[in-house]
Amino acid sequence: MKDLSPQPSDLEPIETASIDEIRSLQLKRLRQTLNHVYANVEHYRKSFDAAGVHPDDLRELSDLSRFPFTTKGDLRANYPFGLFAVPQAEISRVHASSGTTGKSTVVGYTAGDIEVWATVVARSLRASGLRAGDMVHNAYGYGLFTGGLGAHYGIEKLGGTTVPMGGGQTEKQVELITDFQPKGIMVTPSYMLNILEAFIKAGRDPRETSLQVGVFGAEPWTHAMRLEVEQAFDMHAVDIYGLSEIIGPGVANECVETKDGLHVWEDHFYPEIIDPETGEVLPDGEEGELVFTTLTKEAMPMIRYRTHDLTRLMPGTARTMRRMEKITGRSDDMMILRGVNVFPTQIEEQVLKVPALAPYFQIERYKSGPMDAMRILVEPKAANMGAEALGQHRAELEQRIKQMIGISTDVVVGEVGSVPRSQGKAVRVVDRRCE
Ligand code: DLL
Repeated sequence: MKDLSPQPSDLEPIETASIDEIRSLQLKRLRQTLNHVYANVEHYRKSFDAAGVHPDDLRELSDLSRFPFTTKGDLRANYPFGLFAVPQAEISRVHASSGTTGKSTVVGYTAGDIEVWATVVARSLRASGLRAGDMVHNAYGYGLFTGGLGAHYGIEKLGGTTVPMGGGQTEKQVELITDFQPKGIMVTPSYMLNILEAFIKAGRDPRETSLQVGVFGAEPWTHAMRLEVEQAFDMHAVDIYGLSEIIGPGVANECVETKDGLHVWEDHFYPEIIDPETGEVLPDGEEGELVFTTLTKEAMPMIRYRTHDLTRLMPGTARTMRRMEKITGRSDDMMILRGVNVFPTQIEEQVLKVPALAPYFQIERYKSGPMDAMRILVEPKAANMGAEALGQHRAELEQRIKQMIGISTDVVVGEVGSVPRSQGKAVRVVDRRCE
């Protein structure tokens, strides 16, 4: 893999500013944001009043803990535009979540918000090792999802060449990567595995592509998956994080030279970690639920938005701003089996440790008598494996999961191609408990 470390001149001054400078900028911006929402969004005025707090009560950053949380339920209750803090005529774009449970949630951006968004994505791309003049293949979905357009504007802001491929048409992806020779790719890690398979099917060596770095996000993925993809393509795999409610992709990003967690772009987004049960703010270093407050958003500022993502905050390394550890999972993805908490990422780690198994898996939850149980669908890498070998791989995975996670599972090694392939965000868990 090529060394893609940045030169000091590649960074914005704020990326190497002192902690004191960053904290004082945050305090100034946080005050402005609280005043902006209190004056312009009825929901916030009412919720601050109900909690007995006023923007003037914020004297230091830690006073933020006195302000109420915002939840997805608040976005739904104010559907579609109730949380906008500017008149609709000043909104230059909206995006929306897919809304698999209930109404979709809508987010809005002023022209200034789009500019900030492009800036943080461009910063993320530089952290990933990309520079002005580089070509980037963008396979995040375009449309209401923030991935495609968020990445697109960021690549343009970087001064790069955008290939606006979008999701799907996997053979076409292989063809364009081969013919155009991009240096970077932006895509979900699970769809990258799909592209990998298509390379192999087309008889092309994925290690021979022009790709030097993949900027992967929109879903949880493990260090084990990083190694798998880095090996397969002989390129760097870097983590990008974000969510629509806060801005989209580009809230935090790993630095390619360290790959030791994602630096949160704290000049625009203020992170807190809370105990998901009590809502109490936890000190840096402790694992809990990530909560974000936007510091510069104009159209739809968010105050203490509960992400449901589980991680912890750590001091800066390659940049001054704090890092968050790779996301373990969402609190809503956590399964409890006989009293043991299990996340799909833990299963991913174990699947990838069995060399004969392909990196695809899906978890099925079902009822076994009164108890919840879990079945894990996997498949072998090679098609012509005998029944005995398959049985051994199955036993090895069951054994690993028992040892490392502490639960008994039922592993099913299906035929090559039997595990559903991701087209964007992977569906890791299928709930069959009511069937
Ligand atoms: O997924 C934004 C995005 C697009 C991020 C492209 C990165 C790349 P939503 O659809 O609103 O927005 O989903 C946000 O996805 O709360 C996390 O649960 C999950 N997520 C996003 N990035 C990561 C990541 C986009 N790097 C939700 N690691 C978030 C783990 C992630 N989970």
